[in-house]
Amino acid sequence: MCGIIGYSGPLEARKILLDGLSQLEYRGYDSAGIAFFDTGSEVHLIKRTGKVAMLREACASMKVSSHCGIGHTRWATHGGVSDANAHPHRAGRVTLIHNGIIENYHSLTKEFNLDERLVSQTDSEVAAWVLDHFYSGDPKAAIKSLVERVEGSYGFCIMFDDRPGEIYGVRSVSPLVAAYTRSGALIASDLTALIPYTRKYFVVPENHIVKLTGYKISLYDLEGAVVSPEIMEVNWNMDSAMKNGFPHFMLKEIHEQPEALKNTIVPRIAKGLPDFADDKIPDHLFAQCSKIHMIACGTAMHAGMVAKALMEPVLRIPVIVSIASEFRYGEPLIDEETLVIIISQSGETIDTLAALRLAKSYGSKTLAIVNVKGSTIARESDFVLYTHAGPEIAVASTKAYSVQLAALYMIICRMALVRGKFTREQAASFIMELLDAIPAMESMISRKEEEKNLVTHLIQQHDTFFMGRGLDYAFSLEGALKLKEISYIHAEAYAAGELKHGTIALIAPEVPVIAIATQEPVFSKMISNVREVKARGAFVILLTKEHAQVDEALADVHIRIPDMDDRFTVFPIAVILQLIAYYASIGKNLDVDQPRNLAKSVTVE
Ligand code: AGP
Repeated sequence: MCGIIGYSGPLEARKILLDGLSQLEYRGYDSAGIAFFDTGSEVHLIKRTGKVAMLREACASMKVSSHCGIGHTRWATHGGVSDANAHPHRAGRVTLIHNGIIENYHSLTKEFNLDERLVSQTDSEVAAWVLDHFYSGDPKAAIKSLVERVEGSYGFCIMFDDRPGEIYGVRSVSPLVAAYTRSGALIASDLTALIPYTRKYFVVPENHIVKLTGYKISLYDLEGAVVSPEIMEVNWNMDSAMKNGFPHFMLKEIHEQPEALKNTIVPRIAKGLPDFADDKIPDHLFAQCSKIHMIACGTAMHAGMVAKALMEPVLRIPVIVSIASEFRYGEPLIDEETLVIIISQSGETIDTLAALRLAKSYGSKTLAIVNVKGSTIARESDFVLYTHAGPEIAVASTKAYSVQLAALYMIICRMALVRGKFTREQAASFIMELLDAIPAMESMISRKEEEKNLVTHLIQQHDTFFMGRGLDYAFSLEGALKLKEISYIHAEAYAAGELKHGTIALIAPEVPVIAIATQEPVFSKMISNVREVKARGAFVILLTKEHAQVDEALADVHIRIPDMDDRFTVFPIAVILQLIAYYASIGKNLDVDQPRNLAKSVTVE
């Protein structure tokens, strides 16, 4: 949450900062601001509530030139949305931007007598004043003192009035990446802001100080000793962070799913079987565990729910899925024999990271499924399986979900093989079926008009219910989340058999029910549940396989996916559910890519 960018170099800094903030806007978008040194070394500050476009407009008439500055796009934590609370914050000789939460801001305010000085309600301004207190011409010493006093999570970028051309960064938990490029030195909260300039970067290690100047980047430990950064390379390109003719990132990312799936699956197939040799994931990890515990948040947790429904019948060991924010404060029943699978697109979600650390403290082996290379979760896990979705910009997760599923399906297959639950032939045929899910997705994407037409009814309603049994229930959880977050229509997912234990009271004429019925063993049971809601007047949107035998009078809208093995129907179904949410958001004229109150990476509790 909160996007951060800093630049020092030969180009016009204001443009680089504003462009960077546009790239980072998905991290928070209630206000934005930049600060920069002009060529006479004076600091200018400009900030606005609203989106980056407002800030850009406000900057348009500025004539001053600059080669060094910092920028911030905010997702409010402390203090409401106002110009004063927007970053950067000025405190004496310090100009600072912050991503994270300073937990002891209240006691710092008292200790440093800041009440009279503060012009905002933010914890970040408190940190800026504390830094100014310690600053007497040595930036690294002052930053070290600040780090010793603040508690919480932070990624700070800092300018000191008497150090024109220099930017300093330090972080704890909250991410910061940096790169020296042909265009100058850059630092940002995430990679998407760097890829227009370079693919090589490094992750600023926690409790290290990074210094940017126009001609180099230096990294120091807190004692001031020089440290060599570990340079990483990402294969994302500029195109992947642009809309490329699509009206929204979300629609573009829905279309990118087949390609993302291929990129995640195909390099991991050897002789027709799943193979993690290149990922350095040993078979004994899968062979020796006595249970599996998956931990994640939101969409990533829903991917875990699908995997659980598939894993237990195949592997015959307990598989538990936990919400990371609950797991981290619990006393989990895990041990050295538990394989903990952590799922996270960003690799920075704070609750998921804390859950990972807790799992490690219990001695469990940890395997992370992560999209962002070099992210904290990826670096701290014992093993990593990277998904290859490329950058996901829309706040609503789509392609990240599909590739998480693909990675989990590959793991299930390899585990079943290693544990003797699949023969080589069964494993090879499982992988073939997984690959066949890709054209099934493509076919649903090409038929997107079906979803576009059906939302007319949906967007006039306050509530929508999703229901399914078994795997279909796991899919419906994600369908409901997607609809809620971008269309603001209340939605709930139910195991279809559970509906009549209370919730059916809410089924009144015209209430939409999205019924997913792709699982053969429970198909007739599902259809009975559909009859029950239809009998109460529900507007039924039924999703089945192509040749399912259904009384057409049961459904107001019937969408058929290609016939396929039950275990893989999630891939085409996910496309349908994503498109329903997408068109509902469009139908209500909402901001699809940046829905209210949300941000892409949840790096605060
Ligand atoms: C869903 O569309 C959201 N983007 C959200 O639920 C997300 O999946 C969750 O915050 C977890 O993020 P992560 O995968 O980056 O850890």
